[in-house]
Amino acid sequence: MRKTESRKTLSLTLLFLLAVSSFGENGYDLWLRYVSVETSHLSQYQSAATEIVFEGTSETMEAAKNELLAGLEGLLGQAVPDQSAVTSNGAIVAGTPENSPIINGLQLDLDADPESYKIVSTTYSGNSIIAIASSGETGVLYGTFHLLRLIQTGESISGLNINEKPKIKRRLLNHWDNEDRSVERGYAGKSLWKWSELPGKIDDRYKDYARTCASIGINGTVLNNVNCNIGNNKNMLTTSYLQKVKALADVFRPYGVKVYLSALFSAPQVLGGLGTADPTNSSVQQWWKNKCDEIYQLIPDFGGFLVKANSEGQPGPKTYGKTHAQGANCLADAIAPHGGVVIWRAFVYDNEVDADRMKRAYKEFKALDGDFSSNVIIQAKNGPFDFQPREPVHPLFNGLDHTYVGAELQITKEYLGQSIHLVYLAPMWKEILDFDTYRDGEGSTVAKYLESDTLSMIAGVANTGSDMNWCGLHFNQANWYAFGRLAWDYTLSSNKIADEWTKMTWGWTTTIVSTIKKMLAGSHEACVNYTGALGLGGIFAYNHHYGPDPGFNGDPSHPDWNSVYWHKADNQGLGYDRTTSGSNFVSQYFSPNKEMYNNIETCPIEYLCWFHHVPWNYELETGKIFWDELCYRFYDGAYYVSIMDTVQWPSLQSNIDGQRYSEVKAKLDQHLIDAKEWRDVCINYFKQFSNMPVPAYEPPTAVSFRPVKKSKNLNPIKVFNLQGKLISVITPKKDMHLAGHKKMISSRLNQGIYIIRQKGMKPMKIVTGIGY
Ligand code: GCU
Repeated sequence: MRKTESRKTLSLTLLFLLAVSSFGENGYDLWLRYVSVETSHLSQYQSAATEIVFEGTSETMEAAKNELLAGLEGLLGQAVPDQSAVTSNGAIVAGTPENSPIINGLQLDLDADPESYKIVSTTYSGNSIIAIASSGETGVLYGTFHLLRLIQTGESISGLNINEKPKIKRRLLNHWDNEDRSVERGYAGKSLWKWSELPGKIDDRYKDYARTCASIGINGTVLNNVNCNIGNNKNMLTTSYLQKVKALADVFRPYGVKVYLSALFSAPQVLGGLGTADPTNSSVQQWWKNKCDEIYQLIPDFGGFLVKANSEGQPGPKTYGKTHAQGANCLADAIAPHGGVVIWRAFVYDNEVDADRMKRAYKEFKALDGDFSSNVIIQAKNGPFDFQPREPVHPLFNGLDHTYVGAELQITKEYLGQSIHLVYLAPMWKEILDFDTYRDGEGSTVAKYLESDTLSMIAGVANTGSDMNWCGLHFNQANWYAFGRLAWDYTLSSNKIADEWTKMTWGWTTTIVSTIKKMLAGSHEACVNYTGALGLGGIFAYNHHYGPDPGFNGDPSHPDWNSVYWHKADNQGLGYDRTTSGSNFVSQYFSPNKEMYNNIETCPIEYLCWFHHVPWNYELETGKIFWDELCYRFYDGAYYVSIMDTVQWPSLQSNIDGQRYSEVKAKLDQHLIDAKEWRDVCINYFKQFSNMPVPAYEPPTAVSFRPVKKSKNLNPIKVFNLQGKLISVITPKKDMHLAGHKKMISSRLNQGIYIIRQKGMKPMKIVTGIGY
């Protein structure tokens, strides 16, 4: 990666650290900074990494070797020799059984998946070594990044016995990048891809992009916007653009990153000059076959096509009276002989299908289940609307029986403050991936539904751009990181991912780690709160989706593009009735989720307005009436931001380099202004319907955790997650006060929101992992 000025010129001494802290870093190096480890750990690592031995010589092995050499030199403050044989204790040997006789001789019983890897401490000809081994070279590269991560995060590297295998096979970034280098919903500068310079000129950044993806296991990238039918976006499948794509694919290949393209459905017409793009027309089918032959001649490992069809002005099979399945299969059959896939987006919301937009995609695709070719993946967004700060899980994740379904998450925070607001998305993604659909009985999580031995996929809409720090806001880097880590292993906790990212990106001192992790932990919930908690959604300003506009009703052609369509505020209450006596959206879920959502008493309050028209004075389990709770949460969200901006981040000023400190601080200042605006605009707007006063807000303080009352209530304490599922039962300790119990419960749970219930007490919400 491009080195920061300080790294170029200074050695790794105390002077260096001081220089970094005063002159700053620009964030280009992301989590691959490789700055010197804490002195307390130095000797341990230096003796465990004395030399490296890579017997393989391919481009991928060279990439892994160079990463390890550069990483170790930075982390350990000294160059580690690159040897052709093991000569001492502490050698790191990396390879596959095919390219390395040493690895072959170790007989490590490697998994056949070329992305899986083992990292083991063992001995070789009398020397203790660390072996990074895989049946494939990409696995060796991933293992190399894993070993570096252990050192970057201060973990022990002795007695290693690591065995990793990705749970989801295709882990992709989706770039919504236009050919003119603008980026749809991009907030970090221009597109990384300099089409006018390609294929002749290869920007340094392309390689750094691929390295970064590989460091977190991302193995594919869709280079261009799904909206191919806008502006100048129609050229991607022309021969001249395919040459440019090939040049990028050649740079990415050593890092295990395959290239995919968004395909314009009407390309046979627009580029091929045919009179139609009807997928059942034989000339159209032949056009796609010829195009695939051309692509694979240039890019033999091309991943496949991503298609947005019959959605928001994009052409598709319905234009010709054909189904989504007929459309997808036309491309799928053309690409199948080459081993490619077609990823067909489920982001469709044809008015004709149902009056309730939340129901439309499920209805269309459910009716076609079984009609898709075996190399088609249906890509559904995490929720049935559109990347709101919190939405119910998309029912397609329990709906299709004969079709592969992949998930689309949005890393770029279109509705979550873009590159201004500090919002860590891993807790939200965990809520979705861990959601129990009950499709095959209890424990049928969304994550498990995505898994498959053949086609499994998870995609993240990228947040990268030409800004020096790649993501606009330094903290947005955490979301790129978290996406990759979760795509690789969805069982990781958001707390563990935050811990890794913080240590690698900002440093390991306790002050830095504990403060930044606290900020990250509650930031998503704060955003939900100030943009509309309790299931409010879709109240964003038209088109740019940044600020609030709950009263917007200005687009008669698309009722569902208006805020009022979503919240349905009136003098009775707030929210869209989607129960069995309303739109019946609840019936797209399996029991018991269906019944749980259908009943206002059991519907988790975080989802209330998605499913119910909630009376303003409805009493909630929190002990407040609905209107008061809503106001309280708007205030709570803004309050959380004020703590990040005025207390937590400033407390780190002397621990963080000057440049990154002040860049983050400036954004946090704006974040606070915006959060207050959201709060005030929304409360004022909804007040005209509730006709109730705004209750006084008492911010949570350390005082509320004081041991005020010792509990005599020894009934079991039951802990439920947001979906109402019982996840833990705790026996209260005699005479332990409430705060003590809360702490005890929090320490056993992952970061998130839980409801605790105990006979004789009002139900209560706890938010774990958050500290004010
Ligand atoms: C949202 C977003 C669009 C995008 C669309 C999609 O509507 O605002 O910019 O094109 O999603 O996912 O296709």
